Amino acid sequence: MKQQAVLTKLENKRQQAREGGGKKRVDAQHGKGKLTARERLEVLLDPDSFEEYDMFVEHRSTNFGMNDNITPGDGCVTGTGTINGRLVYVYSQDFTVFGGSLSEANAKKICKVMDMAMKTGAPVIGLNDSGGARIQEGVDSLAGYGEIFQRNVNASGVIPQISLIMGPCAGGAVYSPALTDFTIMAQGSYMFVTGPDVVKTVTHEEVTQEDLGGASVHTTISGVADLSFSNDIVTLRQTRRLFNFLPLNNRQGTPSRPTNDPADRVETSLNTLIPDDPNKPYDMKELIIRICDEYDFFEIQPDYAKNIMVGFGRMEGKTIGIVANQPMEMAGCLDISASRKAARFVRFCDAFSIPLVTLVDVPGFLPGINQEHNGIIKHGAKLIAAYAEATVPKITLITRKAYGGAYIVMSSKHLRSDINLAWPDAEIAVMGPKGAVEIIFRGEKDMDARAEEYKEKIANPFIAASRGYLDDVIRPQNTRSRICRALTILENKDEKNPWKKHDNLPL
Ligand code: HXC
Repeated sequence: MKQQAVLTKLENKRQQAREGGGKKRVDAQHGKGKLTARERLEVLLDPDSFEEYDMFVEHRSTNFGMNDNITPGDGCVTGTGTINGRLVYVYSQDFTVFGGSLSEANAKKICKVMDMAMKTGAPVIGLNDSGGARIQEGVDSLAGYGEIFQRNVNASGVIPQISLIMGPCAGGAVYSPALTDFTIMAQGSYMFVTGPDVVKTVTHEEVTQEDLGGASVHTTISGVADLSFSNDIVTLRQTRRLFNFLPLNNRQGTPSRPTNDPADRVETSLNTLIPDDPNKPYDMKELIIRICDEYDFFEIQPDYAKNIMVGFGRMEGKTIGIVANQPMEMAGCLDISASRKAARFVRFCDAFSIPLVTLVDVPGFLPGINQEHNGIIKHGAKLIAAYAEATVPKITLITRKAYGGAYIVMSSKHLRSDINLAWPDAEIAVMGPKGAVEIIFRGEKDMDARAEEYKEKIANPFIAASRGYLDDVIRPQNTRSRICRALTILENKDEKNPWKKHDNLPL
């Protein structure tokens, strides 16, 4: 009898937790075209895989009538589940309960799943939809953020961390996503440290939430977010897709899945990818897609610093990280944004043992006052440091230009790249033939003939190959098979950096 009463109480509490902030607020959430915290987890996770923790956690505040306003779970749904059968820890802020605000109690729930994820070696995905620190609680809520930040930092490089922004994310709350590996925004969500009202008071600038920190701002201008999608469902489905490429932790190695795509697939279309005119652009994405298993490439930050592309593909079923200059944008040169974008991606891949394939067609660093004054020296150095410290298998292919410092930066042999290949059109030199002869033959006549001579003597792959800086010059059509073979050769690569507490990356 007593047991029955407890079970009834249990079920009632569960039901209360499931209802969140009540029908009115749930309807308001749906009215904005959004899913609730629990509905989102249903889309993100495999059916019936969600194991909820801490459904009965309640806040302990008493001020402002809070003791009469208690919802079991306290506005954040936490637990574990699977994505395509692989373990993941999740937390999902419930905007219908105090605007999803972070309380002492629900911060502890988030910390618990992060601690469990570290102990069991599984990624964490956080679904953010929150008005920030719970105003009624004051410092207890701020403490909660601090505890989460500390765990984000400890987990960095140990387990993948993904932040989904599905509503407001303002104030110091933005720093947890910023400390994680990937930030993905649903359109209509926003992130900013200080909102439009504060901005207006302090700087007299008038701006909307969307223009200050909407998805389009963060995926194209600031680079704070990696991806954005049109609504909750697409965001969650694409997150599942990204998850499939990632290892569960830094000890497990890259995930693998069966493929019918032959490693020795010949792609004759690649033989004509490079235009005859060396200054004419071509789409490097064509090459990426043609060498990946089943032509499947998951691009990260596709709308930011488009002059470099980064993302995940697979070869013979195993995840690889691809970094590629894009000649279609600013001739594929390296600038501040491209250097930072690529450096961060290279470091993610290295931390999680994902081999790197680098496709090079780079005319150099972008010249200009803006670039110099904003620190291209320091930001460019980030990419050098990222490649130089990376000990994962590194394979580089030069398709066309590899000029100047950018040649060295883009995973050259000199930065411990393992296998370096080039197509027959590759030109490796201090600069392009035209610029070079204008300096060394200044004032002379017949510069065209000089440029031809320079090209003949310097700007071809065979000089670098004769020094061993290239391991081979290959036919474009064989690119996939040669990279697949290189990956197999390097599978058991073991390289270590000297002992140190940590490096001093040029931040
Ligand atoms: C407690 C909150 C809350 C908060 C919203 N609510 N934010 N409750 N603490 N931080 C409650 C509201 O009272 C309301 O309750 C419900 O959530 C929905 O909020 P609305 O304002 O009706 O929704 P909307 O119009 O969509 O506006 C959403 C919002 C706005 C833009 C997020 O609520 C807002 O500006 N909130 C305050 C944001 C803020 O200043 N947070 C502190 C940031 S500083 P009812 O009962 O009516 O449903 C910070 C520091 C972190 O976070 C530091 C970390 C180091």
